[in-house]
Amino acid sequence: MLKLLLVLALVCRPAIAAKCKAAPKSVQNIQQCCHAPMPNWGAYNSECSSSGPQPSCRLQCIFNAAKVLDGNRLNMTHVRPMLERAFNEASTIDAYMSNFASCANLVKNNFKEMTGVSKQSDACDRHALFYSLCAYSRLLRHCPSSAWNGSLKQCPSARSYVRNCPWPALKMFMKST
Ligand SMILES: *[C@@H]1O[C@H](CO)[C@@H](O)[C@H](O)[C@H]1NC(C)=O
Ligand SMILES: *[C@@H]1O[C@H](CO)[C@@H](O)[C@H](O)[C@H]1NC(C)=O
Repeated sequence: MLKLLLVLALVCRPAIAAKCKAAPKSVQNIQQCCHAPMPNWGAYNSECSSSGPQPSCRLQCIFNAAKVLDGNRLNMTHVRPMLERAFNEASTIDAYMSNFASCANLVKNNFKEMTGVSKQSDACDRHALFYSLCAYSRLLRHCPSSAWNGSLKQCPSARSYVRNCPWPALKMFMKST
């Protein structure tokens, strides 16, 4: 039995890797497939209007104003109040809560690799930016059916890729964002 499992593992792993290599172009434009609600970060203008145009700086300012960052780590206790200020709908806030929770360790553990992938300026530390990109990409991956654009024919292949290959898809998303 163990032998069979080992053989299966050896046979299946390259197949999965190969499938994940061939990302369809549609993955780069997956935003068109899912009309996910965008945060209204303008709600933090009183604290962060002078943080500058770089997303890394703006998000770092907002995350710090909301006390969401504990060093480089997310403090989930403070994430919900931040989301409640930036979004209106409870279902969106719940979805982002769960996405930030999954991204807390992912970003912490892969931060270095992400800095090599992201094209976004490192004018400020990029932890807040990467937590946000990761949470947003997870929302696209588990797009609420009300937000899914079924009229675009390239979307099913994009969805299937991001579901089966989350880490390559996230890296691709970060490269093109
Ligand atoms: C998160 O913030 C709360 C409230 O300020 C604090 O009590 C808690 O210890 C923090 N959690 C972590 C893991 O630092
Ligand atoms: C789907 O995407 C197309 C092209 O971007 C757009 O014209 C259309 O309004 C979208 N439909 C929905 C339901 O979002």
